[in-house]
Amino acid sequence: MKPLLNNDEFPKLPALDDTTKMNKLTTLTDCLRLNEETVRKVQQIFEEEMRLGLAKNPSRQSSLLMANTYIPELPDGSEDGYFMALDLGGTHCRVIMVHLNKANKEEPLVKYFDVPQNVRLGPGVKLFDFLAKCVYDFMKANDILSKSLPIGFTFSFPMLQKALNEGILVTWTKSFNSPGVVGQDPVKMLKEAIKRREDIDVDVVAILNDTTGTLIQGAYLDHHCTIGMILGTGSNACYVERADRIEKWEENHAGVKEVIIDVEWGAFGDNGVLDFIRTDYDRQVDANSLLVGSFTFEKYFSGKYMGELARVILAHLTHQGILFEGKGSKKLFTKDSFTTSLISHIEGDQMEPVNTRAILEEFDLLMNTSDDDIKIIRYIVHLITVRAAKLVSACLSCLLNRQTRSETTVAVDGSLYKFHPRLHELLVKYTSELVPNKKFKLMLTEDGSGKGAGLVAAIATRLMRYNKQIFTDSRG
Ligand code: BGC
Repeated sequence: MKPLLNNDEFPKLPALDDTTKMNKLTTLTDCLRLNEETVRKVQQIFEEEMRLGLAKNPSRQSSLLMANTYIPELPDGSEDGYFMALDLGGTHCRVIMVHLNKANKEEPLVKYFDVPQNVRLGPGVKLFDFLAKCVYDFMKANDILSKSLPIGFTFSFPMLQKALNEGILVTWTKSFNSPGVVGQDPVKMLKEAIKRREDIDVDVVAILNDTTGTLIQGAYLDHHCTIGMILGTGSNACYVERADRIEKWEENHAGVKEVIIDVEWGAFGDNGVLDFIRTDYDRQVDANSLLVGSFTFEKYFSGKYMGELARVILAHLTHQGILFEGKGSKKLFTKDSFTTSLISHIEGDQMEPVNTRAILEEFDLLMNTSDDDIKIIRYIVHLITVRAAKLVSACLSCLLNRQTRSETTVAVDGSLYKFHPRLHELLVKYTSELVPNKKFKLMLTEDGSGKGAGLVAAIATRLMRYNKQIFTDSRG
């Protein structure tokens, strides 16, 4: 059976021995199916939210930030020199040094650091002291403490930028909730932390989102690349927009023809426009999350939440007597125990459900599992995968529609995209149906937030020489 938008029976309900169970399963899970009309409606709403997000005086508040990144040009291949990047967005942070040159053979130097929960949830000043220490440790380990280097700061949270090197954190997302940072400029806080140390000399020349890093890295590899997308712990996209379409951009930007816009689609629907697709399962995922009531769209499918969504559904079906003889296990009823990587494993099963069985064993569920249970679990996982693919395609198609070039490469990164065995194929199918006239390809672009950030630092350094308008003069 083909995964077409108008195929309302995909994925197919499993044939079970017990028909009453089948009917009950249909009643409890049909809310997760999005028919073609609904997907097209999501697409139209997203388009309107984008328009409002770029408007100067919108008739109502859009849920999309549509933030200006102040990056007015893509790499042109002439980037040359050593650049550093600091990448914060998940439970690990990284410090990177790239050597950009025409030959581009060298692998970047990278050091990973765990960002402990007490740092992610503790006071902002401590978080930035921690980051400055990571930069120091990296420089020391690589014997470059005596060097003065430009650094690009990948900060993968919603920001309103005022310049390429100045932003204001709008809200925390994912697993961060550090007080004293929302409403502040992360560049300033990082510079202050660096100054407090007095033992490193780096210049934070740019702040960027991971989608932006991915787009820039993609454009470095493929000149058709004008969209960056992250399907990882969180989700988001950015794209190259015509400067004259950004009505809200009041600053003097004469001569700038295009600029990268960070959509921040994780928050799509925070104003209620997507409530018609919200299920009780989604409401529960939200209620179980760190930042309740925000990032509605991201919570439908991103890596931080998709496993939890599956768990919530499976737990409910168990309580309804549809799975595991109604018994379940402690682990199944424990919040966040079912990670999104398990979705990829289950989707990776071919004819024999080897991975599914192994997971059930790990969840102490195998002894109460029937063959029907296995079919149901696989079905649920397909259902939420297909819903994820349709939602992402609805939004991606709008970004593609805005591209004026004859073909577009979408640079994609993130663990969900990388490890899910079917997501890529479904995204390509649904998106092609939504924008039949657009030629596009999805290109896995790893390390955008590392190498891409180094490239942004290089572009920033180049631009500093002649285009001051996109910088805040707060060096030092
Ligand atoms: C953040 C975005 C980021 C995305 C992917 C979201 O939670 O708001 O800024 O791009 O996660 O990391």
